[in-house]
Amino acid sequence: MDIVIKDNYDSMSNYAAQKIAGIIKDKPDCVLGLATGGTPIGTYRELIKMHQQGLDLSAVRTFNLDEYFGVGIDLTKPYDQDQSYARFMHEELLKHVNINPQNSHIPDGRTNDPAGFCKWYEEEIKKAGGIDLQLLGIGGDGHWAFNEPGSSLMSRTRIEALSKQTLDDNYESFYKKAGVKREQMPHFAITMGIGTILEARNIMMLANGSQKADVVALALEGPLTSQITATAVQLHSGAITVVLDNESASKLKGLQHYRDVANLKKEYGLE
Ligand code: GLP
Repeated sequence: MDIVIKDNYDSMSNYAAQKIAGIIKDKPDCVLGLATGGTPIGTYRELIKMHQQGLDLSAVRTFNLDEYFGVGIDLTKPYDQDQSYARFMHEELLKHVNINPQNSHIPDGRTNDPAGFCKWYEEEIKKAGGIDLQLLGIGGDGHWAFNEPGSSLMSRTRIEALSKQTLDDNYESFYKKAGVKREQMPHFAITMGIGTILEARNIMMLANGSQKADVVALALEGPLTSQITATAVQLHSGAITVVLDNESASKLKGLQHYRDVANLKKEYGLE
């Protein structure tokens, strides 16, 4: 696992975007797994800037991690009335770059057949040849996507009930601003499973801010547990990069070691 610690949110975002752009340049039709939340917004802004400077995303294929159940993009509604992740992706990335809408996949929160949809989504990922790079944040309760505490570390795409902490966190960060009442926010989501995520060839997890410091330390250094599904980062067999800012890294027991390794890699040209 490569642990990269940057000074602040902007340099974390810049690093992540450079890595993604590198993959797109090497493989123009790469398959990217995309994430929502406040954390990746800076990365998306950097990618938009790179696109404006010539980065071509026309052949890139994307699969989003998750979507609230019961909502979905409705472009006829004002932004504030539609808190879907589809809307989030549209506003924060997709409408600014040249990803072909037919190549961008986001779980359908309005499906009448969730089980059938989840099966189809898994098949589409396989048909695309699997995910080259999966981008991830981490929830306050340690979740990846919406794999809440107790989710199997082998789980697949499915409907999942949201934990109280996730409802509280996501109400504060998204729904409250939109004037939605706490009890009206969706209590379920469609989410890729941990098993699905672990099949991505590369994983890049981002976290920033002191409020994530405890959960980041538990995820990277704590015992593997379905109570903190991001501990699955310790199970991945491919390349893993965890990009943190100083604040979110501050509770890591091995902080000095990770910094030393990063410096040594620089010295040996192994970055
Ligand atoms: C949601 C998403 C996760 C995301 C998490 C953290 O719960 N389903 O994929 O990692 O929020 O969000 P933030 O980046 O805003 O802290």
